[in-house]
Amino acid sequence: MPEVVLHRIDGRLTARLMASGRSMDICAQPPAIDCRPHSRDLSRKQPLAKALGAADSIIDATAGLAQDAMFMACLGYRVTAFERSPLLVQLVRDLLDNLDPANACSEAIRQRLALTQGDAIQLLPRCEQADVVYVDPMFPPKRRESALPRKDIQLIRSVVGDDADSRELFQAALEAAGKRVVVKRPHYAPPLAAGVHHSIKSKLLRYDVYLK
Ligand SMILES: C[S@@+](CC[C@H](N)C(=O)[O-])C[C@H]1O[C@@H](n2cnc3c(N)ncnc32)[C@H](O)[C@@H]1O
Repeated sequence: MPEVVLHRIDGRLTARLMASGRSMDICAQPPAIDCRPHSRDLSRKQPLAKALGAADSIIDATAGLAQDAMFMACLGYRVTAFERSPLLVQLVRDLLDNLDPANACSEAIRQRLALTQGDAIQLLPRCEQADVVYVDPMFPPKRRESALPRKDIQLIRSVVGDDADSRELFQAALEAAGKRVVVKRPHYAPPLAAGVHHSIKSKLLRYDVYLK
């Protein structure tokens, strides 16, 4: 486990992770999108919006630093986000508590995003049903990767883990979802589970859609 020191940089709560003489800072950032009405970033033709489909409520079971959850809130969905790492929850809460009112995305995020700390495998069977459960576990390492993954990714993994229980999470998501489960995957990785109905591909990744 790396040493973790919390400090503020430009007013934002930041975690400095230190291990083996290496350090990196992580913090939650507002989404880098144009939130003005009718902007292309908010088009329902965006790959994530296409994958989520005609839905009102989303559970983001793997919130991380909440980039996807905030984006979904800006797209107009009501989002309940679960994250089990207390450190990441602390960083995201600090961002949510200090949203810049001058940023056009802030109001949508404030109105539509709720964050809960905990393990989604336990929380999903107990929470109010949502139309879609969204799952984005840590990407698996590339099978034929000769070198170790980048040092900063190693550092983050040493804090949040490898999400080795993501298949169990998928089953909980499938049982809890009202309409569909959407799983974010890198192109090189096989689906998390059999039964993909269709996939929406973007340049760097794809969304596997499972219908109920
Ligand atoms: C790849 S990150 C998600 C990134 C996120 N989609 C974003 O946009 O910032 C995966 C996260 O899921 C969390 N996670 C994995 N399994 C979980 C579970 N069963 N319950 C809650 N959080 C989980 C991990 O702690 C990690 O922070």
